[in-house]
Amino acid sequence: MCPHSEEPAAWHDASLDFSKDMSYSDYLALDQLLAAQHPLSPEHNEMLFIIQHQTSELWMKLMLHELRAARDHIGQSLLGPSFKMLARVSRIMDQLVQAWTVLATMTPPEYTAMRPYLGKSSGFQSYQYREIEFILGNKNAAMLSPHAHHPERLAHVQKALETPSLYEGAIQLLARKGLAISAERLNRDPTKGTEYDPSVEAAWLQVYRDPTHYWDLYELGEKLVDLEDSFRQWRFRHVTTVERIIGFKRGTGGTDGVSYLRKMLDVVLFPELWRLRTNL
Ligand code: HEM
Repeated sequence: MCPHSEEPAAWHDASLDFSKDMSYSDYLALDQLLAAQHPLSPEHNEMLFIIQHQTSELWMKLMLHELRAARDHIGQSLLGPSFKMLARVSRIMDQLVQAWTVLATMTPPEYTAMRPYLGKSSGFQSYQYREIEFILGNKNAAMLSPHAHHPERLAHVQKALETPSLYEGAIQLLARKGLAISAERLNRDPTKGTEYDPSVEAAWLQVYRDPTHYWDLYELGEKLVDLEDSFRQWRFRHVTTVERIIGFKRGTGGTDGVSYLRKMLDVVLFPELWRLRTNL
């Protein structure tokens, strides 16, 4: 009803009565989502800090949803759907690269004012981020420790450590398609991070030297390079934004901050796919 008349309100034939139907806010659980921001400081800028992290975590949730499904499809040699999923993950990453420009509006004094309220919490302890690293093959059992106090999260990240990565799946697929991968590489401990292997590079080289013959594997290789390219840019924008805001101060997570993050720029997720470009 309009507040000043007996006539029911109307607007362009839109549905306006949700007393019996599911509305947009109901479907999206907006009351819960929008009640999950709890600034601890009196600082105006803390809301930006919280929302930037929370939205990143939401996008990470979708990335994991796509990456797990892509890994399963590659395991079943169903490359078409996996390409769609990998492309989506790369575009999400690109969007998160852009998102750093919003956080970069936070100045050093603004961050410093709320820094004491953050305690030891840091993105370093993001269990979704760790699972993304693990599913992409950057495995490190030491990264389980921040979750030791929370058995459910620990079990989740531990499982991600123990499950063969998406790249392992791609290497197994190369072997199934008749390309020669050493037995040692095929039987590698899945909890260990990816390391360069000459038989894998030789297999990818064979694919890249004859794309027409190996089109699906060639496309898979390029989708993976696309993804790592976007991920590298995310890491780079993170470290640059961090340096801009806190310089070379230690991180809330305890590392030496920018120096630690710069070392992470050297991580190579799919080493053979990068190396082959020199040797092609
Ligand atoms: C003012 C904003 C930020 C600052 C000053 C900052 C600072 C840092 C620092 C210093 C580290 C190293 C670990 C430590 O000692 O704490 C780190 C790690 C990390 N941060 Fe940020 N960060 C910021 C924003 C963000 C945002 C918005 C995200 C998005 C989720 C994020 C995600 C991460 C992740 C995932 C790591 C772990 C990286 C790895 O281990 O390779 N950070 N951050």
